[in-house]
Amino acid sequence: MNTPINYELVERKIEELEVPEIGNASIREIVQLVSSIEAATGQKYIRMEMGIPGLPPAQIGVEAEIEALRNNVASAYPRIDGIQPLKDESSRFLKLFMNIDVKPEGCIPTVGSMEGSYAAFLVSGSCHKERDTTLFIDPGFPVQKQQLLVMGQKYETFDVFDFRGSKLRDKLESYLSKGNIHCIVYSNPNNPAWICFDDEELRIIGELANKYDVVIIEDLAYFGMDFRSDLSKPGMPPYQVTVARYTENYILMISSSKVFSYAGQRIGMLVISDALYHRHFPYLGERLKVHGFGNAIVHRVLYSLTSGTSHSAQYALAAMFKGANDGIFNFVGDVKEYGEKAKIMKQIFTENGFTIVYDTDQGKPVGDGFYFTIGYPGMTGGELLHKLLYYGISAISLGNTGSTKEGLRACVSNVKRDQFEDLTIRVKQFNADFPIITE
Ligand SMILES: Cc1ncc(COP(=O)(O)O)c(C=O)c1O
Repeated sequence: MNTPINYELVERKIEELEVPEIGNASIREIVQLVSSIEAATGQKYIRMEMGIPGLPPAQIGVEAEIEALRNNVASAYPRIDGIQPLKDESSRFLKLFMNIDVKPEGCIPTVGSMEGSYAAFLVSGSCHKERDTTLFIDPGFPVQKQQLLVMGQKYETFDVFDFRGSKLRDKLESYLSKGNIHCIVYSNPNNPAWICFDDEELRIIGELANKYDVVIIEDLAYFGMDFRSDLSKPGMPPYQVTVARYTENYILMISSSKVFSYAGQRIGMLVISDALYHRHFPYLGERLKVHGFGNAIVHRVLYSLTSGTSHSAQYALAAMFKGANDGIFNFVGDVKEYGEKAKIMKQIFTENGFTIVYDTDQGKPVGDGFYFTIGYPGMTGGELLHKLLYYGISAISLGNTGSTKEGLRACVSNVKRDQFEDLTIRVKQFNADFPIITE
């Protein structure tokens, strides 16, 4: 078959990757594979496998970071729980964009939300001797499961596709009633499906967190990016929806990577509710020689992992939060481009036989944002990923995200608008080469 990328070469490179099944390859393995095919052929892929921000970093952060470096912050160890201006502006940000109250004390910088989730899993899993399992409301971000693998912690998972709205309650209770779950994790908006839990669902999650005394880890890596509502105005509704309205047992993770296009500097905020921060757990004392949840995070885990977050990056994030809080930096406006690109790309795929796998959100069409999901009739996610590689298109399989559906996660950020023409040609050829058989 005459495919845009040489078939034999793709096969050879897949073999070199030494992953038995391409559908199970991790994001970084696909990145490595596609980069090596690009290098060997000189041809460019439509790269949708990794969520690298495709926009320049927020300048307000860059300027503040340069100034901080000029002021010699590089020579001093930063406070592990964060510099005061960052803690203060974070707390203000939570009030102005979420309408929740968290003291600056509980706003702690981490080396990306990756470090935040690692610390949260570790401490949450050390609170009760009999609770050793994390529950993922999937689909989700695969690396968090890898973190648990590395730590030797257990997890359970279910695909939320069939359990939206009020159905979520019974499903969650079926896990929580067993007594082994210490925390529940989900991202909102969801990576990879871009579905967004609404207040009804967050209320259910919050009420069950209270009933079963579990910690909710709400991953807000895509804060404000449900573009169906305008979440860009400080101090004015609508606000970013959150479980924090329904329980005090929460940790929020706000990454700078996507909303501020600041992924390279590796900084995010781990936000612990006032109540959870000061809560004592007897088993924590035995396990980590400290009683309070917040102290365990700061003085045991973050101290051991990285002893704080890059000093200059903290100044950058403080300035970005301040700009947003003061209403002079519209961070949501800056990232809207992702939603606009997603709309066009989804159309290119659906006009050529593809389907959107997670296509609705509580009865409404799913929004356009950083990711979308695609399927092709009659093909498993693994097959589709494998075949698209011959057509110069890369993504990751939904199976990797805890989804039970066949299909792929497509990330829009790294695809340039001037590649849409190529994308259209390749997808059209794919559709012609693999005609959909309708009975
Ligand atoms: C849902 C989710 N959580 C966490 C992260 C990691 O964020 P960070 O770059 O801040 O470590 C990502 C990055 O893609 C993500 O999509």
